[in-house]
Amino acid sequence: MINLEGKVALVTGASRGIGRADALTLARAGADVVVTDILLESDLESARRAERYGPLAQAMLATGHVYTERTAEEIRAMGRRSAAYRMDVTDPQQVREVFARVKEEFGGLHILVNNAGTLDHLGQLEDQKDELWQRDLQVNLTGAYNCCKAAWPIMKEQQDGRIVNMSSVAGTLGGFGQASYSTTKAGIIGLTKSLALEGARHGIRVNAVAPGIIGTEAFKMGTGHQERMIRRTAFRRLGEPEDVANAIAFLVSDLARYITGIVLHVSGGIELFTF
Ligand SMILES: NC(=O)c1ccc[n+]([C@@H]2O[C@H](COP(=O)([O-])OP(=O)(O)OC[C@H]3O[C@@H](n4cnc5c(N)ncnc54)[C@H](O)[C@@H]3O)[C@@H](O)[C@H]2O)c1
Repeated sequence: MINLEGKVALVTGASRGIGRADALTLARAGADVVVTDILLESDLESARRAERYGPLAQAMLATGHVYTERTAEEIRAMGRRSAAYRMDVTDPQQVREVFARVKEEFGGLHILVNNAGTLDHLGQLEDQKDELWQRDLQVNLTGAYNCCKAAWPIMKEQQDGRIVNMSSVAGTLGGFGQASYSTTKAGIIGLTKSLALEGARHGIRVNAVAPGIIGTEAFKMGTGHQERMIRRTAFRRLGEPEDVANAIAFLVSDLARYITGIVLHVSGGIELFTF
């Protein structure tokens, strides 16, 4: 039913977790997929030196959870076109260059999944580090804006664009100790709805997904409190990265051609009143 043949997709933050699952799922549905991230396996040394990527990136490197190029290889093995590019979403110049390269090498860009995000610290306001506040805004919010802006002229020219931005239940509910993260994820909803209005006349649909708690490597390595969070879901279990990827595959497909500006919760009912 979901057929993305002939479409070119780009996923940000696809070295692991939800982004990697998105890339593989879109490819299984027939799309050619460009896999992008700040981290590439072949570039571990330079990444290791880059402390600005934060403690989670360092931990992922140390434990070998970086699969950007491997993901592109797996997609090519499915018979689709794919490439792995290093792209820091906070760097507008680098983003523009990568998108221009995709247009040149893949002949267009129809699907953008703004997945790159930071999920590596909890801290109440008094303990919130100012540099992490700025970093979260830069990656989660400005990063999505940079990519939408670079994709827009390509999608407008094609009169065909499907963008999915990654929000979170932290953006719709707030999160204790998550002021910076939840602020960015709420901001993503404003960006999504505004661009949905602007894009409609150009054949561009823009939606968001709001995952609950998804059992990615980052989540499992994360902040403690996992069992308490799981108990808050109606299903009393974690989601899988593929649960989010499947929702995204639907939203970017023609099955969702009349859907724009929505926030689709993929949350196991964590926002419901449970007891
Ligand atoms: N896991 C969850 O429970 C959950 C819940 C709600 C929302 N989300 C959102 O889903 C997305 C993916 O989450 P995940 O759990 O897979 O996390 P993750 O940390 O495994 O994935 C994030 C990816 O983004 C990349 N990244 C970080 N900074 C970047 C930058 N400046 N430029 C490009 N790439 C960058 C990382 O290298 C990593 O590959 C994030 O936006 C996160 O906020 C996750």
